[in-house]
Amino acid sequence: MVDINRFSIFKSEVFSFELPNFNFWKQQIEQIILVEDNKNIHGQDTTPDERCNVMAKRTAWNSHMRYPTLDLLCQEIAKPIEEFVAKEGYDIPELEPANCWVNWYRKDNFSHPHSHGSHLSAVLFVDVEKTDARFFFHANHNLVLIKKQDVISNFSNLKEVQAKDGTVIFFDGSVKHSVSPNNTNNTRVTMAVNYKVNYKQERDEY
Ligand SMILES: [Fe+2]
Repeated sequence: MVDINRFSIFKSEVFSFELPNFNFWKQQIEQIILVEDNKNIHGQDTTPDERCNVMAKRTAWNSHMRYPTLDLLCQEIAKPIEEFVAKEGYDIPELEPANCWVNWYRKDNFSHPHSHGSHLSAVLFVDVEKTDARFFFHANHNLVLIKKQDVISNFSNLKEVQAKDGTVIFFDGSVKHSVSPNNTNNTRVTMAVNYKVNYKQERDEY
């Protein structure tokens, strides 16, 4: 038989850090959920009308504009990322929050595989350890060469993130990801932000 050689192609990186003052931010997010879960009392529910990939309760896409504390949190999350960008020499001159929202997954809620387009995306795991829902990254475009019995293989199109409360992950928003169903009676809470990568130039005289 002819020898078949194998080699891997392409890799992606995801980055993570522990959010300073996490308990403060967790309380702030819990307050927002409390308000939005009690519309009859507070009259505030920013959940979008249109269906999206998040099959769970969530706030509006522009929640950093609706909740000042989320705008501050976006800035707090950006700080370590900007330091990292400067230290590692990434070509990211300025990060500006474009979208920000809070998700809370009750029993049977999940998120379809999806991506966030050309943003730098970050997710804060606020309260995830009490449920069995898991966060996955997906490799794109793998349609064939999947084994019938995948016992020993170097093929994988899924990578689970071992999420802990207080951890922030950040990644290229074009990488597909999903959240598996929450089979427990506890609620899983995350906060997400898409940063626009700005290349600001001064306007010329015309
Ligand atoms: Fe997402």
